[in-house]
Amino acid sequence: MSLEPETPRSCPVRVAGTGSYLPERVMTNHELEEAVDTSDEWITSRTGIRERRIAKEGEFTSHMASEAARRALDQAGVAAIDIELIIVATITPDTLTPATACYVQQQIGAFKAVAFDVSAACSGFLYAMELARHSVGAGAFRNALIIGAEKLSAFVDWNDRNTCVLFGDGAGAAVLLPSTNGGGRILSSTLGTDGAQAELLNIPGGGSACPALPGAAPARPAVLSMQGREVFKHAVNAMRQAANDAIAAAGLGIADIDLIIPHQANLRIIDAIVERLDFNRENVFINLDKYGNTSAAAVAIALDEAHREGRVKPGDRILLVAFGAGLTWASAVIEW
Ligand code: ACO
Repeated sequence: MSLEPETPRSCPVRVAGTGSYLPERVMTNHELEEAVDTSDEWITSRTGIRERRIAKEGEFTSHMASEAARRALDQAGVAAIDIELIIVATITPDTLTPATACYVQQQIGAFKAVAFDVSAACSGFLYAMELARHSVGAGAFRNALIIGAEKLSAFVDWNDRNTCVLFGDGAGAAVLLPSTNGGGRILSSTLGTDGAQAELLNIPGGGSACPALPGAAPARPAVLSMQGREVFKHAVNAMRQAANDAIAAAGLGIADIDLIIPHQANLRIIDAIVERLDFNRENVFINLDKYGNTSAAAVAIALDEAHREGRVKPGDRILLVAFGAGLTWASAVIEW
């Protein structure tokens, strides 16, 4: 007889539907040339970004998240009222509290769902996926709606050329269901955090350390601040390692991967990782030229676009890998 406490049995979990939403307003590099001392040539050659989407006034993170969620639910054939768990990954919530997931619950009519946010920057969607996978796999919830959504345009200093050219707004979502009779599953996932490097990339103002009190501007503004070159180095190393770890945890080799969907921050970061992984660049999904870095939304939007464009077919093995403020990193291998 085993003296080990009984561990709950876990069933595999699949991605049953994806959706995304991008605001209509396109902001090109040429427009930014008018605002700060930059050039289309610099932005394109240093990052690969050509344009980004900007949410309109009155359009918040929750609105974009809800629209992406509706599209994912529609594709999965699941009614909002039947959703039991909503996790929104974001660093640009509508309000510090309540969580953006609470607004989404109301906007889409998922009135029975437990709803909360995770804050893990660009890795947030994959953090949400891992939490939801275990929650659904263990039977605590029958399904989950996970969303990466950001309105970064509200947290960018539009006079700082070091950051304002990099970011954009948008949302992506996925519905997770138990994989009872085949039809794909999440094979593996890895998550990592290094809080010692928190200062490299943060939004210093607006929190309890530097509050925005009535009548006074916070001592440090609530805008993104980044040591780009340092972050770049960490991103390449951490994403390569996370990719290898998830592939190994799935019992696979790089040759078994059909498509890589990386975080969409910088084309040079993606190229460096793909080269180190010795992977065919044609099988790497890239859309950062159109949207810039949408942080927690980036991998979610890319997964949905890849799916809808037919780049993801049943049986394919897809590697998702992300990196962001925290520092955080995350990866997952999905068999579609
Ligand atoms: N236009 C023109 N020149 C610029 C611009 C700009 N928009 N931005 C910076 N420069 C200048 C700098 O001032 C610097 O000039 P100097 O040499 O005279 O000082 C020069 O260009 C080079 O600057 P670097 O910062 O070294 O440029 P780099 O090649 O590293 O590119 C970048 C900067 C694009 C930010 C890059 O470092 C990067 O992509 N870093 C990682 C970003 C990332 O992955 N973030 C993670 C996720 S984000 C999140 O979690 C929210």
